[in-house]
Amino acid sequence: MSDRIKGLIDKLETEHTLKKEEWVELFDGYTDETREYAAKKARGVSLENFGNKIYIRGIVEFSNVCKNDCLYCGIRASNKNAQRYRLTDEEILSCCDEGYEYGFRTFVLQSGEDYNEYPAKRIADIVARIKQNHPDCAVTLSLGEMEYDDLKLMREAGADRYLLRHETATKSLYEKLHPEKMSFEHRMTCLKWLKELGYQTGAGMMIGAPYQTSEDLADDMLFLHDFKPEMIGTGPFLPHKDTPFKDMQKGSYELTLFVLSLCRLMLPRVLLPATTALGTIRPNGREQGVLAGANVIMPNLSPTAVRKKYMLYDGKICTEDSSSECRNCLSARMKRIGYEIEVSRGDYK
Ligand code: 5AD
Ligand code: FES
Repeated sequence: MSDRIKGLIDKLETEHTLKKEEWVELFDGYTDETREYAAKKARGVSLENFGNKIYIRGIVEFSNVCKNDCLYCGIRASNKNAQRYRLTDEEILSCCDEGYEYGFRTFVLQSGEDYNEYPAKRIADIVARIKQNHPDCAVTLSLGEMEYDDLKLMREAGADRYLLRHETATKSLYEKLHPEKMSFEHRMTCLKWLKELGYQTGAGMMIGAPYQTSEDLADDMLFLHDFKPEMIGTGPFLPHKDTPFKDMQKGSYELTLFVLSLCRLMLPRVLLPATTALGTIRPNGREQGVLAGANVIMPNLSPTAVRKKYMLYDGKICTEDSSSECRNCLSARMKRIGYEIEVSRGDYK
Protein backbone atom coordinates (compact mmCIF):
# COMPACT_ATOMS: atom_id res chain seq x y z
CA MET A 1 0.00 0.00 0.00
CA SER A 2 2.60 2.50 1.09
CA ASP A 3 4.88 1.38 -1.77
CA ARG A 4 2.07 2.04 -4.19
CA ILE A 5 1.57 5.57 -2.78
CA LYS A 6 5.30 6.26 -2.84
CA GLY A 7 5.40 5.03 -6.43
CA LEU A 8 2.73 7.58 -7.38
CA ILE A 9 4.65 10.35 -5.62
CA ASP A 10 7.80 9.33 -7.53
CA LYS A 11 5.82 9.36 -10.77
CA LEU A 12 4.48 12.82 -10.03
CA GLU A 13 8.00 14.04 -9.31
CA THR A 14 9.31 12.87 -12.68
CA GLU A 15 6.26 13.29 -14.93
CA HIS A 16 4.60 16.26 -13.18
CA THR A 17 1.18 14.84 -13.83
CA LEU A 18 -1.07 11.96 -12.80
CA LYS A 19 -4.33 10.47 -13.98
CA LYS A 20 -7.50 11.27 -12.13
CA GLU A 21 -7.71 7.78 -10.55
CA GLU A 22 -4.14 8.15 -9.34
CA TRP A 23 -4.85 11.46 -7.65
CA VAL A 24 -7.85 9.89 -5.93
CA GLU A 25 -5.68 6.99 -4.79
CA LEU A 26 -3.20 9.44 -3.26
CA PHE A 27 -5.85 11.38 -1.37
CA ASP A 28 -7.54 8.21 -0.13
CA GLY A 29 -4.41 6.27 0.68
CA TYR A 30 -1.80 8.65 2.12
CA THR A 31 -0.45 8.10 5.63
CA ASP A 32 1.86 10.16 7.85
CA GLU A 33 4.76 8.23 6.40
CA THR A 34 3.88 8.81 2.75
CA ARG A 35 2.96 12.43 3.43
CA GLU A 36 6.40 12.98 4.90
CA TYR A 37 7.92 11.18 1.93
CA ALA A 38 6.21 13.68 -0.37
CA ALA A 39 7.17 16.62 1.86
CA LYS A 40 10.84 15.68 1.74
CA LYS A 41 10.83 15.52 -2.03
CA ALA A 42 8.82 18.74 -2.34
CA ARG A 43 11.17 20.52 0.03
CA GLY A 44 14.07 19.37 -2.14
CA VAL A 45 12.40 20.80 -5.25
CA SER A 46 11.84 24.13 -3.46
CA LEU A 47 15.46 24.25 -2.32
CA GLU A 48 16.63 23.61 -5.90
CA ASN A 49 14.46 26.41 -7.27
CA PHE A 50 14.53 29.00 -4.50
CA GLY A 51 17.30 27.97 -2.12
CA ASN A 52 16.42 28.53 1.53
CA LYS A 53 14.79 31.87 0.68
CA ILE A 54 11.16 32.67 1.45
CA TYR A 55 9.37 35.43 -0.43
CA ILE A 56 7.09 37.70 1.57
CA ARG A 57 4.00 39.62 0.40
CA GLY A 58 2.34 42.25 2.53
CA ILE A 59 -1.46 42.06 2.45
CA VAL A 60 -3.48 45.23 2.85
CA GLU A 61 -7.08 44.22 3.59
CA PHE A 62 -8.57 47.54 2.60
CA SER A 63 -12.31 46.78 2.77
CA ASN A 64 -14.37 43.98 4.27
CA VAL A 65 -17.54 45.05 2.50
CA CYS A 66 -18.67 42.33 0.12
CA LYS A 67 -21.65 42.01 -2.18
CA ASN A 68 -21.21 38.24 -2.35
CA ASP A 69 -22.49 35.64 0.01
CA CYS A 70 -20.14 32.66 -0.17
CA LEU A 71 -21.48 30.22 2.39
CA TYR A 72 -18.08 29.67 4.03
CA CYS A 73 -16.88 33.25 4.33
CA GLY A 74 -17.10 35.40 7.45
CA ILE A 75 -17.37 38.68 5.53
CA ARG A 76 -20.31 37.48 3.39
CA ALA A 77 -22.95 40.13 2.79
CA SER A 78 -25.55 38.39 4.98
CA ASN A 79 -23.34 38.44 8.05
CA LYS A 80 -24.94 41.28 9.98
CA ASN A 81 -22.48 40.80 12.86
CA ALA A 82 -19.50 41.82 10.76
CA GLN A 83 -18.43 45.38 11.49
CA ARG A 84 -17.72 46.83 8.09
CA TYR A 85 -14.82 49.14 7.32
CA ARG A 86 -13.17 50.77 4.34
CA LEU A 87 -9.70 52.31 4.19
CA THR A 88 -9.07 55.58 2.36
CA ASP A 89 -6.58 55.77 -0.49
CA GLU A 90 -4.17 57.55 1.82
CA GLU A 91 -4.48 54.82 4.45
CA ILE A 92 -3.80 52.13 1.85
CA LEU A 93 -0.74 53.99 0.58
CA SER A 94 0.61 54.47 4.07
CA CYS A 95 0.30 50.72 4.82
CA CYS A 96 2.47 50.14 1.75
CA ASP A 97 4.99 52.80 2.82
CA GLU A 98 5.26 51.14 6.20
CA GLY A 99 5.63 47.73 4.56
CA TYR A 100 8.40 49.03 2.32
CA GLU A 101 10.39 49.97 5.42
CA TYR A 102 10.08 46.40 6.67
CA GLY A 103 11.40 44.95 3.43
CA PHE A 104 8.21 44.14 1.56
CA ARG A 105 8.56 44.44 -2.21
CA THR A 106 5.13 43.03 -3.05
CA PHE A 107 1.89 44.57 -1.84
CA VAL A 108 -1.35 42.62 -2.07
CA LEU A 109 -4.48 44.75 -2.12
CA GLN A 110 -7.29 42.53 -0.92
CA SER A 111 -10.96 43.21 -0.21
CA GLY A 112 -14.46 41.85 -0.43
CA GLU A 113 -16.28 42.48 -3.70
CA ASP A 114 -16.82 46.18 -3.08
CA TYR A 115 -16.83 47.74 -6.54
CA ASN A 116 -19.30 50.50 -5.81
CA GLU A 117 -16.85 52.11 -3.46
CA TYR A 118 -13.71 50.92 -5.20
CA PRO A 119 -14.38 50.80 -8.94
CA ALA A 120 -11.51 49.73 -11.20
CA LYS A 121 -10.59 53.35 -11.90
CA ARG A 122 -10.03 54.07 -8.21
CA ILE A 123 -7.96 50.90 -7.80
CA ALA A 124 -5.98 51.77 -10.94
CA ASP A 125 -5.13 55.17 -9.44
CA ILE A 126 -4.03 53.59 -6.17
CA VAL A 127 -1.89 51.05 -8.04
CA ALA A 128 -0.26 53.81 -10.09
CA ARG A 129 0.53 55.79 -6.96
CA ILE A 130 2.05 52.76 -5.21
CA LYS A 131 4.21 52.06 -8.26
CA GLN A 132 5.26 55.69 -8.41
CA ASN A 133 6.27 55.72 -4.73
CA HIS A 134 7.95 52.31 -4.93
CA PRO A 135 9.04 51.52 -8.50
CA ASP A 136 10.88 48.42 -7.34
CA CYS A 137 7.72 46.80 -5.99
CA ALA A 138 5.08 44.48 -7.42
CA VAL A 139 1.38 45.01 -6.81
CA THR A 140 -0.98 42.06 -6.53
CA LEU A 141 -4.74 42.46 -6.56
CA SER A 142 -7.19 40.16 -4.83
CA LEU A 143 -10.59 41.77 -5.34
CA GLY A 144 -12.78 38.93 -6.52
CA GLU A 145 -14.39 38.57 -9.93
CA MET A 146 -14.37 41.57 -12.26
CA GLU A 147 -15.13 42.29 -15.88
CA TYR A 148 -12.52 42.20 -18.63
CA ASP A 149 -12.29 45.95 -19.17
CA ASP A 150 -11.82 46.57 -15.45
CA LEU A 151 -9.08 43.97 -15.19
CA LYS A 152 -7.44 45.52 -18.24
CA LEU A 153 -7.55 49.04 -16.81
CA MET A 154 -5.86 47.96 -13.58
CA ARG A 155 -3.28 45.93 -15.47
CA GLU A 156 -2.45 48.96 -17.60
CA ALA A 157 -2.09 51.02 -14.44
CA GLY A 158 0.70 48.68 -13.40
CA ALA A 159 -0.86 45.82 -11.44
CA ASP A 160 1.41 42.80 -11.83
CA ARG A 161 -0.47 39.91 -10.30
CA TYR A 162 -3.98 38.83 -9.39
CA LEU A 163 -5.17 36.23 -6.92
CA LEU A 164 -8.53 34.63 -7.60
CA ARG A 165 -8.91 31.19 -6.09
CA HIS A 166 -11.03 28.99 -8.32
CA GLU A 167 -12.34 27.49 -5.00
CA THR A 168 -13.21 24.18 -6.70
CA ALA A 169 -12.96 22.83 -10.22
CA THR A 170 -16.21 20.87 -9.79
CA LYS A 171 -19.24 22.88 -10.86
CA SER A 172 -21.64 20.94 -8.64
CA LEU A 173 -19.46 21.53 -5.56
CA TYR A 174 -19.04 25.19 -6.50
CA GLU A 175 -22.80 25.48 -6.37
CA LYS A 176 -22.95 23.97 -2.89
CA LEU A 177 -20.43 26.51 -1.59
CA HIS A 178 -21.89 29.59 -3.22
CA PRO A 179 -25.29 31.21 -3.59
CA GLU A 180 -27.21 30.73 -6.80
CA LYS A 181 -26.33 34.09 -8.24
CA MET A 182 -22.61 33.32 -8.34
CA SER A 183 -21.44 31.54 -11.45
CA PHE A 184 -18.76 28.90 -11.75
CA GLU A 185 -18.37 29.72 -15.43
CA HIS A 186 -17.79 33.40 -14.76
CA ARG A 187 -15.13 32.65 -12.20
CA MET A 188 -13.31 30.37 -14.64
CA THR A 189 -13.68 32.98 -17.40
CA CYS A 190 -12.10 35.61 -15.12
CA LEU A 191 -9.14 33.35 -14.52
CA LYS A 192 -8.69 32.95 -18.26
CA TRP A 193 -8.86 36.74 -18.77
CA LEU A 194 -6.27 37.33 -16.05
CA LYS A 195 -3.78 35.15 -17.87
CA GLU A 196 -4.61 36.74 -21.23
CA LEU A 197 -4.00 40.18 -19.77
CA GLY A 198 -0.55 39.14 -18.60
CA TYR A 199 -1.22 39.07 -14.88
CA GLN A 200 0.80 36.52 -12.92
CA THR A 201 -2.26 34.64 -11.83
CA GLY A 202 -3.06 32.77 -8.63
CA ALA A 203 -5.72 30.09 -8.36
CA GLY A 204 -6.43 27.71 -5.50
CA MET A 205 -8.92 25.94 -3.29
CA MET A 206 -9.72 25.29 0.32
CA ILE A 207 -8.80 21.86 1.64
CA GLY A 208 -11.64 20.05 3.36
CA ALA A 209 -14.34 22.46 2.27
CA PRO A 210 -17.79 21.10 3.16
CA TYR A 211 -18.90 18.30 0.79
CA GLN A 212 -15.45 18.11 -0.85
CA THR A 213 -14.39 14.58 -1.85
CA SER A 214 -11.11 13.07 -3.04
CA GLU A 215 -12.56 13.19 -6.54
CA ASP A 216 -13.10 16.93 -6.24
CA LEU A 217 -9.52 17.43 -5.07
CA ALA A 218 -8.33 15.26 -7.96
CA ASP A 219 -10.22 17.57 -10.33
CA ASP A 220 -8.57 20.58 -8.66
CA MET A 221 -5.14 19.08 -9.32
CA LEU A 222 -6.05 18.34 -12.95
CA PHE A 223 -7.34 21.88 -13.35
CA LEU A 224 -4.19 23.38 -11.82
CA HIS A 225 -2.08 21.22 -14.08
CA ASP A 226 -3.88 22.49 -17.19
CA PHE A 227 -4.22 26.10 -16.12
CA LYS A 228 -0.65 26.40 -14.83
CA PRO A 229 -1.16 29.36 -12.51
CA GLU A 230 1.95 31.22 -11.40
CA MET A 231 0.65 31.02 -7.82
CA ILE A 232 -1.48 28.57 -5.87
CA GLY A 233 -3.22 29.68 -2.68
CA THR A 234 -4.50 26.80 -0.65
CA GLY A 235 -5.29 26.36 3.03
CA PRO A 236 -7.66 24.39 5.22
CA PHE A 237 -11.33 25.29 5.41
CA LEU A 238 -12.07 26.74 8.85
CA PRO A 239 -15.64 27.43 9.97
CA HIS A 240 -16.83 30.90 10.89
CA LYS A 241 -19.49 31.20 13.59
CA ASP A 242 -21.74 33.57 11.65
CA THR A 243 -22.00 31.56 8.43
CA PRO A 244 -24.23 28.68 7.30
CA PHE A 245 -21.16 26.42 7.59
CA LYS A 246 -20.59 27.22 11.26
CA ASP A 247 -21.07 23.60 12.34
CA MET A 248 -19.12 22.02 9.50
CA GLN A 249 -15.90 20.21 10.21
CA LYS A 250 -12.68 22.06 9.59
CA GLY A 251 -10.32 20.81 6.91
CA SER A 252 -7.45 18.48 7.68
CA TYR A 253 -4.10 19.99 8.58
CA GLU A 254 -2.27 16.91 7.32
CA LEU A 255 -4.13 16.84 4.02
CA THR A 256 -3.33 20.52 3.49
CA LEU A 257 0.39 19.84 3.94
CA PHE A 258 0.12 16.87 1.58
CA VAL A 259 -1.60 18.97 -1.09
CA LEU A 260 1.12 21.64 -0.78
CA SER A 261 3.76 19.00 -1.43
CA LEU A 262 1.86 17.60 -4.39
CA CYS A 263 1.46 21.10 -5.87
CA ARG A 264 5.20 21.67 -5.56
CA LEU A 265 5.99 18.34 -7.26
CA MET A 266 3.47 19.01 -10.04
CA LEU A 267 4.49 22.64 -10.72
CA PRO A 268 8.08 22.95 -9.44
CA ARG A 269 8.43 26.73 -9.82
CA VAL A 270 4.94 27.75 -8.73
CA LEU A 271 4.74 30.43 -6.02
CA LEU A 272 3.17 28.58 -3.13
CA PRO A 273 2.26 30.35 0.10
CA ALA A 274 2.06 28.75 3.52
CA THR A 275 -1.24 30.50 4.21
CA THR A 276 -2.63 32.27 7.24
CA ALA A 277 -5.31 29.57 7.50
CA LEU A 278 -2.55 26.96 7.79
CA GLY A 279 -0.97 29.03 10.56
CA THR A 280 -4.36 29.24 12.24
CA ILE A 281 -5.15 25.52 12.27
CA ARG A 282 -1.72 24.77 13.86
CA PRO A 283 0.60 27.13 15.72
CA ASN A 284 3.57 26.16 13.55
CA GLY A 285 1.50 25.37 10.47
CA ARG A 286 3.27 27.89 8.25
CA GLU A 287 6.69 26.50 9.18
CA GLN A 288 5.47 23.00 8.40
CA GLY A 289 4.06 24.35 5.13
CA VAL A 290 7.49 25.63 4.17
CA LEU A 291 9.02 22.29 5.09
CA ALA A 292 6.42 20.64 2.84
CA GLY A 293 7.34 22.76 -0.19
CA ALA A 294 5.78 26.22 0.25
CA ASN A 295 8.04 29.20 -0.57
CA VAL A 296 5.92 32.28 0.16
CA ILE A 297 4.46 33.86 3.30
CA MET A 298 1.85 36.59 3.19
CA PRO A 299 1.67 38.51 6.44
CA ASN A 300 -0.77 41.25 7.14
CA LEU A 301 0.03 44.94 6.59
CA SER A 302 -3.43 46.19 7.53
CA PRO A 303 -3.77 48.67 10.38
CA THR A 304 -4.13 46.70 13.63
CA ALA A 305 -7.38 48.57 14.33
CA VAL A 306 -9.20 46.81 11.45
CA ARG A 307 -7.56 43.39 11.49
CA LYS A 308 -10.16 41.72 13.68
CA LYS A 309 -12.83 42.82 11.25
CA TYR A 310 -11.35 40.93 8.33
CA MET A 311 -12.36 37.56 9.76
CA LEU A 312 -12.94 35.08 6.98
CA TYR A 313 -12.92 32.26 9.55
CA ASP A 314 -12.78 31.97 13.34
CA GLY A 315 -9.49 32.25 15.18
CA LYS A 316 -7.49 33.99 12.44
CA ILE A 317 -3.96 34.65 13.67
CA CYS A 318 -2.08 37.96 13.77
CA THR A 319 -5.15 40.12 14.43
CA GLU A 320 -3.64 41.63 17.58
CA ASP A 321 -0.22 42.25 16.10
CA SER A 322 1.26 45.21 14.30
CA SER A 323 2.92 44.93 10.90
CA SER A 324 6.39 45.19 12.40
CA GLU A 325 5.59 42.50 14.97
CA CYS A 326 4.44 40.12 12.24
CA ARG A 327 7.50 40.87 10.19
CA ASN A 328 9.88 40.17 13.08
CA CYS A 329 7.94 37.12 14.15
CA LEU A 330 8.19 35.66 10.66
CA SER A 331 11.92 36.24 10.37
CA ALA A 332 12.40 34.41 13.65
CA ARG A 333 10.08 31.58 12.65
CA MET A 334 11.87 31.08 9.34
CA LYS A 335 15.29 31.27 10.92
CA ARG A 336 14.33 28.55 13.39
CA ILE A 337 13.72 26.12 10.53
CA GLY A 338 16.78 27.18 8.54
CA TYR A 339 15.16 29.61 6.10
CA GLU A 340 15.55 33.32 5.43
CA ILE A 341 13.19 35.99 4.24
CA GLU A 342 14.19 37.52 0.93
CA VAL A 343 13.76 41.21 0.18
CA SER A 344 12.76 41.20 -3.50
CA ARG A 345 9.63 41.20 -5.66
CA GLY A 346 9.85 37.44 -5.95
CA ASP A 347 8.37 37.17 -9.43
CA TYR A 348 7.49 33.90 -11.09
CA LYS A 349 10.50 32.70 -13.11
N1 5AD B 1 -11.89 29.03 5.73
C1 5AD B 1 -10.77 29.00 5.00
N2 5AD B 1 -10.55 29.78 3.93
C2 5AD B 1 -11.51 30.67 3.61
N3 5AD B 1 -11.60 31.55 2.61
C3 5AD B 1 -12.76 32.21 2.72
N4 5AD B 1 -13.45 31.75 3.78
C4 5AD B 1 -12.70 30.78 4.34
C5 5AD B 1 -12.88 29.91 5.45
N5 5AD B 1 -13.98 29.94 6.18
C6 5AD B 1 -10.61 31.65 1.54
C7 5AD B 1 -11.27 31.49 0.18
C8 5AD B 1 -11.03 32.82 -0.48
C9 5AD B 1 -9.81 33.34 0.25
C10 5AD B 1 -9.64 34.81 0.21
O1 5AD B 1 -10.00 32.90 1.58
O2 5AD B 1 -10.64 30.43 -0.54
O3 5AD B 1 -10.78 32.73 -1.86
FE1 FES C 1 -17.01 37.89 -0.13
FE2 FES C 1 -17.02 35.41 -0.28
S1 FES C 1 -18.30 36.60 0.92
S2 FES C 1 -16.00 36.72 -1.58
